[in-house]
Amino acid sequence: MDQNSERYLVSSALPYANGPLHVGQIVGAYLPADAFVRYLRMRGEDVVYVCGTDEHGVPITLTAEREGKDPKEVVDYWWSHMKETFERFGISFDNFSRTSTPLHAKNTQLFYRKLKECGYISEAESKQMYSPTEGRFLPDRYVEGTCPVCGYKEARGDQCDNCGSWYEAYELIEPHSKVTGGPAEVRETTHLYLDLPKFSDRLRAYVAGQEHWRTSVKNFILGIIDGGLEKRPITRDIQWGVPVPEPGFEDKRFYVWFDACIGYISSTMEWAENVGEPDRWREYWQEPETRLIHFIGKDNTVFHALVWPALLMGTGEDGEEPYALPYDVPANEFMNLEVVVDGERRAMQMSTSRNLAVWLHEALDRFPADPLRFYLASNLPETGDVVFSWREFQGRVNSDLIGNLGNYINRVLSFTEKYADGQASRPEELPESGLAVLEDFKELERRYEERMLAPKPREALGELLAMGRRANRFFDASAPWKTRKEDPERTRLTLYVCSVLLGSLAYHAAPYVPEAVERLQGFFTGPILRVSDLEKLPEGYRVTGAKPLFQRIEDEEVAAVEEQLSRAVRG
Ligand code: MF3
Ligand code: ZN
Repeated sequence: MDQNSERYLVSSALPYANGPLHVGQIVGAYLPADAFVRYLRMRGEDVVYVCGTDEHGVPITLTAEREGKDPKEVVDYWWSHMKETFERFGISFDNFSRTSTPLHAKNTQLFYRKLKECGYISEAESKQMYSPTEGRFLPDRYVEGTCPVCGYKEARGDQCDNCGSWYEAYELIEPHSKVTGGPAEVRETTHLYLDLPKFSDRLRAYVAGQEHWRTSVKNFILGIIDGGLEKRPITRDIQWGVPVPEPGFEDKRFYVWFDACIGYISSTMEWAENVGEPDRWREYWQEPETRLIHFIGKDNTVFHALVWPALLMGTGEDGEEPYALPYDVPANEFMNLEVVVDGERRAMQMSTSRNLAVWLHEALDRFPADPLRFYLASNLPETGDVVFSWREFQGRVNSDLIGNLGNYINRVLSFTEKYADGQASRPEELPESGLAVLEDFKELERRYEERMLAPKPREALGELLAMGRRANRFFDASAPWKTRKEDPERTRLTLYVCSVLLGSLAYHAAPYVPEAVERLQGFFTGPILRVSDLEKLPEGYRVTGAKPLFQRIEDEEVAAVEEQLSRAVRG
């Protein structure tokens, strides 16, 4: 790593290991993080990118009960399914762990002990939902009811998917068991509580000071703090999860949201172990210059931007294990689906239970990763909800990825191969028009970088397309197919400048379509670099055996996937 590089620890939310990944999750926490990380790596920054599966809690036990399996069987299956799907999609985690490891249990218990020593834990009798017919407590998602804040009918026991509120299950209106549908009643039970109110002032100061956070995230959290924090139970009446190291709690486990974020640290430790430098995780978690960035979907905001910083503050307080706080928590909005119903196009909410979703592994069975990544990146919910549409996928791929970028690359490569022996060597001097386009590129590269680092990879992609248009315009205006006979010297200049631009386009496209850029390097030799980073112009470029990088998406392919969604709606 060079001297001036920044250090980053980037994470994507740990997905529950209870089902396949869908595109809504991908645009929330994975693709934007991956594009960002790939760009940082190219810039020579010191970055570690971690993830893993979230394997505890009610989401897992509910699935296991429904399928008549052991929770362990469920998470083993989905851990490998997810790992493989992420790989096929080109998500470049440095480590993909899971929260059911012994190391993670140890870390979670250590966090608990530290918090307790510093006076942030208390024990109390509390009210919990109980199902008299099932004879057991109903933690979290075992209960459903009407949201006490917004009135949403299918609110979960711990959180409302509609408005993002976080409450206690007994606050729900008309609570009932998710499993039997029968009524749920309130009973007393003992739990351990995290004293969040003790962190109020520090949390407010921390969040208020984050000038670079998205305003939606910042205001949401400040609103919650100003509304007054309450103590929150961190244990549950459940058998699956991290054991609680306290007498009398043998039949309870930690709440999944107590251990989940600690999974980022456990994953980093596992990474450090794997690279043979077991202590290196500390550089990423305990040195304040490190930029710790958590990519999440917006339903995870409270846990990452409020509870997690509190856990880090409390655990680090004795100074033995001081933790840095998140530098940014880019939370993305939701993705809906365009479905054709009775010949009409409608945007509908995804529903995994109705199979009304675009499952990533199925999409990858039909299309290569790059065009999917390109379309999804052009449609990231960075500023508001978006709609996934197969027709728009076809349109963006065919017109922007192929019509703009691919077309430029093809034209330059095939022309160079056909009429210039596959060579573009550096001329003595560049023409005016060449200098001008290089200057324009530097400005576009600056705009791209500013957006990518924000991190707003969707906006950065817009700048990449602007580079593509500028490059195509240069090619058209220079008309090498005309100058080829009357002015070979001029043609040579054109092709050289075109190759420099191509190197920059490939550099900026790589975070989105990494596989294509790798293939390109098999037939295009020369630096893949930003124009702004070229200290002096490269000697030359060579092209041999160039092939088109992308394939058009045909109408029949779109019709088939659209039909699949329509069928899910018809039921
Ligand atoms: N499993 C949670 C979800 O899918 C996300 C957990 S993020 C974590 O909503 F890292 F904190 F675990
Ligand atoms: Zn609500």
